[in-house]
Amino acid sequence: KILILDFGSQYTQLIARAVRECNVYCEILPFHKGVQPDPAIKGVILSGSPFSVNDPESPDLDVANIVQQIPVLGVCYGAQLTAKRYGGRVAKSDKREFGRAILSNTAHPEDALLKEVSTTSQVWMSHGDTILALPDGFEVLATTESIPVAAFKALNTPHTLYGLQFHPEVYHSVEGKKILRNFLYNICGCHGDWTPASFVHETVEHLRQQIGSRKVIMALSGGVDSTVAATLIHQAIGDRLYGIFVDNGVLRKNEFQQVLDTYKQLGLNVKGVDAKNLFYTRLAGKVSPEEKRKIIGGLFIEVFEAEAKHIDGIGLLGQGTIYPDVIESVSVHGPSVTIKSHHNVGGLPDRMHLELVEPLRFLFKDEVRKVGLELGIPRELLFRHPFPGPGLAIRILGEVTEDKVRLLQDADAVYTRSLRESGLYDSVWQAGAILLPVKSVGVMGDERTYEFTVALRAVTSVDGMTADWAHLPYDFLAKVSNEIINEVRGINRVVYDISSKPPATIEWE
Ligand code: XMP
Repeated sequence: KILILDFGSQYTQLIARAVRECNVYCEILPFHKGVQPDPAIKGVILSGSPFSVNDPESPDLDVANIVQQIPVLGVCYGAQLTAKRYGGRVAKSDKREFGRAILSNTAHPEDALLKEVSTTSQVWMSHGDTILALPDGFEVLATTESIPVAAFKALNTPHTLYGLQFHPEVYHSVEGKKILRNFLYNICGCHGDWTPASFVHETVEHLRQQIGSRKVIMALSGGVDSTVAATLIHQAIGDRLYGIFVDNGVLRKNEFQQVLDTYKQLGLNVKGVDAKNLFYTRLAGKVSPEEKRKIIGGLFIEVFEAEAKHIDGIGLLGQGTIYPDVIESVSVHGPSVTIKSHHNVGGLPDRMHLELVEPLRFLFKDEVRKVGLELGIPRELLFRHPFPGPGLAIRILGEVTEDKVRLLQDADAVYTRSLRESGLYDSVWQAGAILLPVKSVGVMGDERTYEFTVALRAVTSVDGMTADWAHLPYDFLAKVSNEIINEVRGINRVVYDISSKPPATIEWE
């Protein structure tokens, strides 16, 4: 595997994804964890950082010590730190570079790192400091118009040591992936044999060892992560995996039955628990978003625990945790504030005191989907939009009642169906309807109506942290609006949400 030491760059996860796209497994660690001796580690990549290496507070690392053990590639800050550590000169230059630059690969085009990279190619720069003088025994591999050292190599180190001033991991560095691939294959000797199939094989083997003859209980949500995790565990231990899927009354239309059918098709041993009425009773009269979240999260744990009591000798708790949830981030701006508390099954591990089984702990979302395809899970489930744990409860503004849920389920179903039919479903990251606590006057035939308003939301995003409202075609919006008002009795007005995140959030509550 490859180790990526993180200095707090916003691009660190992109390095990891780019490495994995070369079918090489990698992990991210905060820089201060350093590199523990491990024969499985074939190379180290040092990430970028918002700091300047000349800042007294800047993160530091004994690069030479790592180069004693294995090959190292420094990216941006990682390259500057390397140059400085070995005695080079890094300074604020009068030509800061942000954005596109043209890399000139003419100094040593046959070098293992830049092999087969075009003589000139576009790269992405984002730095205020520049390497003005390389240390003794280092040579320049590539330049750009404005900087003399865009790529360098150390000549006499125990293992190979490279630095890149630009970001090979971002999309706009056109041949960046080729450079990373060169580092991984030509220099670190990786084979590129980490694939969804090999992951499934190794993980199932590992799960068998971890679980032995014990039983595993797991909450399923119908979402991608829990379904893929459960399928892997099921492959390892069969029906000793006990899945629980709770109908909390705020799922989408027909979702409970459809998801149970899919689980059955996959051969999973899952019990569906209809707890709708319990949830409606507890939610009655509650209007605060945070309170609604807490009620749903808490009640879910109660229902799950009650079900767990019926199963003898449970030894472990399965979870669909994925890598972005566990990467230890290097904090550069202090702790971030909680905007919304996201209660899912998050409270379960603390309550149940069970050993955890988390087969997806090291995968990114897109990798989870690829593993899901490998396992034969239907595409429709794997590629569906994210859906919040508290479900439609946070899309019904104000009090949640069974009638309002039905109204919103119907409107949401029309919206989702239309998105699919128009081929727009996959082009947005998330979409849903919101029931507003607003009634307005309308006219249908000769009759005056006084009914609710539904807002449609659709966003484009990469990870949900930031999002732009999706510019859905007017014709499409006109069609959906018509269909909702005609098909859903109780709704006479449809509006479209044109706010981005920030400053708005994706959900309305
Ligand atoms: P916001 O509204 O914070 O949403 O912009 C970002 C993403 O998180 C989802 N979301 C939740 N997911 N429990 C969840 O599991 C929650 O309480 C929750 N609140 C928001 C939201 O659907 C979007 O994908």
